[in-house]
Amino acid sequence: MTERRILFAVRDGDFAAWKAAFRQASPQLALVKQPESGIRYALVWRSPSELYPTLPDLAVIFSLGAGIERLLHDPAVPRTAAIVKMAEPGMTASMTQYILWQVIRHHRRFWELEAAQEEAHWLDQDYPAPWNRKVGVLGLGTLGSAAAATLRDFGFATRGWSRSRKAIDGVACFAGDAERDAFLDGLEILVCLLPLTPQTTGILNADLFARLAPGAALVNAARGAHLNEADLLSALGSGRLAAAALDVTGVEPLPAEHPFWHHPRIFITPHNAADIDPATAAAEIARQVARFEAGQQLEHEVERDRGY
Ligand SMILES: NC(=O)c1ccc[n+]([C@@H]2O[C@H](COP(=O)([O-])OP(=O)(O)OC[C@H]3O[C@@H](n4cnc5c(N)ncnc54)[C@H](OP(=O)(O)O)[C@@H]3O)[C@@H](O)[C@H]2O)c1
Repeated sequence: MTERRILFAVRDGDFAAWKAAFRQASPQLALVKQPESGIRYALVWRSPSELYPTLPDLAVIFSLGAGIERLLHDPAVPRTAAIVKMAEPGMTASMTQYILWQVIRHHRRFWELEAAQEEAHWLDQDYPAPWNRKVGVLGLGTLGSAAAATLRDFGFATRGWSRSRKAIDGVACFAGDAERDAFLDGLEILVCLLPLTPQTTGILNADLFARLAPGAALVNAARGAHLNEADLLSALGSGRLAAAALDVTGVEPLPAEHPFWHHPRIFITPHNAADIDPATAAAEIARQVARFEAGQQLEHEVERDRGY
């Protein structure tokens, strides 16, 4: 393969670190900062609308975020360019850690111990064996399937839900709207790793919470707009839900006056559940460029009509 240039269209990104990562990943790939004629590949964050007219040969857009709704809603994005979602081992490992941490935190109700320690109280606390804890993952894509497999490995009674049917050893897999309620039925910890589409916007709402076990916990690491925030506050108020961990919120950064910040049962992280590792991401992009140049199908390509 002759040398290929990739435009780095990531505002505030660490160009030097990414350039070094690409140099390491493939001698045939050069990361450049300025649009040049003939550029076929771009690495983007959000959607740099102003750049597309300067890139008439753009063939593949590699999105640094796995959430690609901004690219799909930007009319400036050329329809002729393929959009590839970021799916790389560093991000998957980080997300898996975050989900495991939050599920164990809820499973063991560590927040009760933290509160007890504040009062120097030796709390006698019971909890079930992990195989008696029903945990479900909404979305069995790159991140959800890795999380579900790890939860299974840690002994949890794990279910997963996706649009098309999946088969993950030791995970009860449900598919489509017809099986959604069976998936949700009696879950004690629910994890959301869905993409944001018209079908999934607001999916974490009172109707869904009513199908979980009383006192269930919610973990949302997907997109803030999956959650109906008012429904979460009332479900926590009534005890229908016991707790929530939110890495994503409707408005980001979460405004200082937002009630989530000081809610005793809401744990906030600043949308950093899964950061990308430039080294493994560059290696993945190099692999995809080589496939594309060889006339093979790209992997993790966004289907525009499907919305993810
Ligand atoms: N918090 C963070 O730091 C962070 C970092 C990266 C990504 N994310 C977010 O994580 C989420 C998941 O990313 P990903 O890369 O794993 O996505 P993905 O690979 O595209 O997987 C999406 C999964 O959701 C399923 N799905 C989509 N629409 C559905 C529907 N209407 N009903 C049932 N299942 C549906 C898909 O089903 P099929 O398998 O049948 O297609 C697939 O299993 C995204 O929202 C992304 O923005 C967050």
